[in-house]
Amino acid sequence: MFKHVFVCVNQRPPGHPMGSCAEKGSRDVYTAFADALQQDPQLMMTVVITPTGCIGPCGMGPTVVVYPEGIWYGGVKKKM
Ligand code: FES
Repeated sequence: MFKHVFVCVNQRPPGHPMGSCAEKGSRDVYTAFADALQQDPQLMMTVVITPTGCIGPCGMGPTVVVYPEGIWYGGVKKKM
């Protein structure tokens, strides 16, 4: 079964009261997912990664949603 991973990479101006996932490192999260797919052909055949604009829970970002399960993750960080 395919997985579709959406990563919010929305960027708001510094100091914006809503904040944004990008200011919390979501673009690094997206890049880490994309790199992992490129390094694993099996993964690439079963997972699609898509950067998105704001998907809602900005204060809990970086926000990631995985379908078809529809599971939402907040505070996602790139593994160091
Ligand atoms: S900015 Fe990422 S959920 Fe709103």
